[in-house]
Amino acid sequence: MNFPNRRLRRLRQTPSLRRLVAETRIAVDDLIAPLFVREDIDEPQPIASLPGIMQHTHDSLRAEVKELAGLGVPGVVLFGLPARKDPTGSEAWNPDGVVQVALKNLRDDHGDSVVAIADLCVDEYTDHGHCGVLTSNGGVDNDATLELYQKVALAQAEAGADMVAPSGMMDGQVGAIRQALDANGYSLLPILAYSAKFASAEYGPFREAVDVTIAGGGNRKSYQQDPANGREAMEEIRLDIAEGADVVMVKPALAYLDVIAQARAQFDVPLAAYHVSGEYAMLKAAAQNGWIDGPATALEHLTAIKRAGADMILTYLAHEIAETLQ
Ligand code: PBG
Repeated sequence: MNFPNRRLRRLRQTPSLRRLVAETRIAVDDLIAPLFVREDIDEPQPIASLPGIMQHTHDSLRAEVKELAGLGVPGVVLFGLPARKDPTGSEAWNPDGVVQVALKNLRDDHGDSVVAIADLCVDEYTDHGHCGVLTSNGGVDNDATLELYQKVALAQAEAGADMVAPSGMMDGQVGAIRQALDANGYSLLPILAYSAKFASAEYGPFREAVDVTIAGGGNRKSYQQDPANGREAMEEIRLDIAEGADVVMVKPALAYLDVIAQARAQFDVPLAAYHVSGEYAMLKAAAQNGWIDGPATALEHLTAIKRAGADMILTYLAHEIAETLQ
């Protein structure tokens, strides 16, 4: 008798069999929660396009990180909303600036037990919303911006950051920051580089969250990558590693799984992926309409990002996924 081959279905018959043969698992250990802290508020403010995510006061941020730590989430990445913006984004390196205060608080609350990552950019702090300082013709000045990033890195290091995460996509930013850190006694402070960061339409809700409008209806296409370019992403990552990046990142995640997989195959350093605000917002909007099963889709998406090769995932889902994984 010539029976059909049922080899592939045999190991799918029960939940426990499926657990045993699963190639990819999401663990709390993989998660980094992005968090927003705002200077001029007394109560946490909800963000309409990011349901469940808040602009935090210093106190509510501390409470949220305590909850995340209690759930076992190993890392958070902080974004600040200053009360005052200016052309260079000088609040970003003010020792008493909003993220620096938050970093000190987290150090007091948790010591070394939570990895406090500081997003390192100036776009939340500049009055024009660009990730750097402008030239006289309105372009973004690469090298003048690197000097600002060095100041921000030192302010964040002095405030107690466990890792700095340059997200501005200026050429040479990792090398400039590494140099400043090394020259000032922070040679063991790691850099998580937003290496392959694409000029994506999926950052929309984030810009609401941090109250950033790019002046003159502008965009970031002169410094962030063209979504069409996967090979160029490998060049970005290669250069960042050569400049001293300790962890490299691909951002956004789901539309760039091929880039994550390629990076995993080509480089041996830890690889992060950022499941960005628009990815979270699309999932939440569809789930709120009852069009998809939200928790199941969330787990499927994060599993896909890990399967593609990411070691860690920055995601607004961190809190709720950590709860379901308890
Ligand atoms: C820039 C920065 C952005 C995000 C993280 N860092 C916005 C941008 O490049 O315009 C987006 C994150 C998200 O959409 O979740 N400091």
